[in-house]
Amino acid sequence: MRILFKNIKELIQIRESGISFVSGSDMSILPNIKNAFLLVEDGLISDFGTMDACPDTKAEQVIDVTGQMMMPTWCDSHTHIVYAGNRESEFVDKIKGLTYQEIANKGGGILNSAKKLQKLSEADLYEESKVRLEAVIAMGTGAVEIKSGYGLTVESELKMLSVIKQLKKNYDLPIKATFLGAHAVPKAYVNDKEGYMQLIINEMIPLISEANLADYIDVFCETGYFSVEDTQRIMQAGKAHGLESKIHVNQFNSIGGVQIAVAHKALSVDHLEEMTDADIESLKNTKTMPVALPGCSFFLSIPYTPGRKMIDDGLPLALATDYNPGSSPSGNMNFVVSAACIKMKLTPEEAINAATINGAYAMGLENQVGSITRGKLANLIVTKPINSYGFIPYSFGETQIDKVYIKGQQIN
Ligand code: NIG
Ligand code: FE
Repeated sequence: MRILFKNIKELIQIRESGISFVSGSDMSILPNIKNAFLLVEDGLISDFGTMDACPDTKAEQVIDVTGQMMMPTWCDSHTHIVYAGNRESEFVDKIKGLTYQEIANKGGGILNSAKKLQKLSEADLYEESKVRLEAVIAMGTGAVEIKSGYGLTVESELKMLSVIKQLKKNYDLPIKATFLGAHAVPKAYVNDKEGYMQLIINEMIPLISEANLADYIDVFCETGYFSVEDTQRIMQAGKAHGLESKIHVNQFNSIGGVQIAVAHKALSVDHLEEMTDADIESLKNTKTMPVALPGCSFFLSIPYTPGRKMIDDGLPLALATDYNPGSSPSGNMNFVVSAACIKMKLTPEEAINAATINGAYAMGLENQVGSITRGKLANLIVTKPINSYGFIPYSFGETQIDKVYIKGQQIN
C-alpha cells in the first residue's frame, strides 16, 4: 500500500538515519523542507523531498495537503496511563495548598491509586486505559512508554503489566512497558520496607522478566519513598534480568539519584525539577537522557526542570507528559511542548526536538520513530493550515493537529 502526501507546506524534523538524539546547541536546529512530498509504503516512510522531485509513482492514495505542515508524531517517553479511577477527590485539597506529601499522608497519593487498582479487574483496567491511550494518539502521540507501579502487590503489578501487553498487541503504535514496583512502599510493608524490597528483587523482577512483561525498570528515588541505595539495588537486580533503567529522580529533592542512575548507565533520568550544578555536571558526556515533565510542574505548582540551563550547558533534553492521576492528569504532548517554551524558555525548535527524536531515544525507539527518516514508521501529524511550526506551542491549549497517521493509517 502506497500513500503519497503532496504539496506539504513544510515537512519538519528530517533526519538522516543513525542520529540517536540531539543535544546542546544542536537542539535549536529543526531540519525541514518547504513545498514537499512524502511517500509511505507499507506503513513506513519510503521517500520524501521537494515537490519538483515528486515521483510519478502509482500510489493507491494521493493526499493533497496544500497549506498544511507535516511532522513526526510526538514520542511520550514517560507515562502512567494504566490506572484505575482518578484522584479528582484530592484536587481541592491541592488547590487549598496541601502539598503532594500532605495529601499522601491523608490517605491520598500513590497508595490511594493502588487501592483502587487492586480492586479493579484486568478487563476493566484495560477498558479504562485504552480510552486514555486512544485520546493521546488523537492528540498526536505516536509512541509511548507506560509504567506499572499502582499495583504494589505481585498480583496487581502483573495485572498492570498484562494490560500494557494487551495494549501493545491491540494498537499499532510502539509501546514500551516499564516495571515500577518501587513506586511507593505499600501499606502492608509500612514498617518493613526491606521486606518490600525483597519482594521486588526476589519475586517480582524474576517473574516479570520470565514472562517478558517489561522492557525497562524504574524506581521513585525520593525522600520518603526509595533511597539512593534502594535505587541502586533495584537497578542492579533489573540489569541482572536484562532490564535497563529509567529512573524518577529529583522531583522534590536532589539526593544523589542522578549520579547513581548515570553510574548504572540508565537510559533516562526523569523529573529533574530540583537540579544542582553537580547533577547537571554528572549528566555531561553520558548516554543517559534527562527527561522533563512540565505537566507535573504545572499541576503540582512545583519548579520546572531548568531545561534552558541544561541545554545551554550542552545537555540533551526530552519532554514527556508523566500522564498519571496524581501529579499530571493529562497526556497532551501539545501542552507539554507549549509549557516547555513558555515556562522553561525552550525555543519551538528545541521543544519539538525534545518531544520527538529525544523522546524516542528515551524509550529506546530512536530507530523507529521521532523523525522523518526513510525506513522509520509512518507515524505522522498533519497540521491545520498554519504559517509556522512555532504556532503549535504559541497557541497553547489549542490543537493545531488536523490528522494523525499511525503506520500510514489515518486514525482520526
Ligand atoms: O511521576 N513521582 C512519582 N510518580 C508519579 C506520580 C504518582 C502519583 O502521584 O500517582 C510522577 O509524578
Ligand atoms: Fe512519573
